[in-house]
Amino acid sequence: MSSQTPYKVLCVCLGNICRSPTAEVVFRHYCDAHQLNIEVDSAGTSNYHPNKAPDLRSQKHARKRGYDLSALRARQLKIQDFVEFDLILAMDYENLDDIQVLMQQAQSVLGQRMLRAKIALMSQHDQKFLQQAVPDPYYGGDDGFERVLDQCESSSLAWVQVLQQQLKG
Ligand code: 4NP
Repeated sequence: MSSQTPYKVLCVCLGNICRSPTAEVVFRHYCDAHQLNIEVDSAGTSNYHPNKAPDLRSQKHARKRGYDLSALRARQLKIQDFVEFDLILAMDYENLDDIQVLMQQAQSVLGQRMLRAKIALMSQHDQKFLQQAVPDPYYGGDDGFERVLDQCESSSLAWVQVLQQQLKG
């Protein structure tokens, strides 16, 4: 990676209104805190909530920890994302499967050589929540939203430590 070209990370969940917007803002916070040249975005595997702001419960819980989600707007994962992003992070195993299905389509439309993205779990390197799904909080209570924040903080920090080494070399 040259110092001018940012490394690009895309956080992905189902609706892009609870988990992945939270992951986007938390991940960006840790990248900035570690002065890493990384851009972060988020998307949903579904198109349930196009252009919607993050769920108000996600916004409320995030704000209590100093994260502002209010400017984000939901969008669906698309084929071009596999060309533009270096790393696509799935919040859970169903997301991971859905991302892989779309990547196969991207491969057949664009050809393998055009694809840049590696796919991984949000919790891939997180010793505290190792390879655990970030549970969907949408139909649950406050504790689910706090859990999303706990996991996003822990897993983002783990990724930042991995990427710090990777981007140095
Ligand atoms: P997210 O949560 O995938 O973390 O954004 C959900 C949001 C909406 C729905 C499901 C999960 N829904 O079914 O509308």
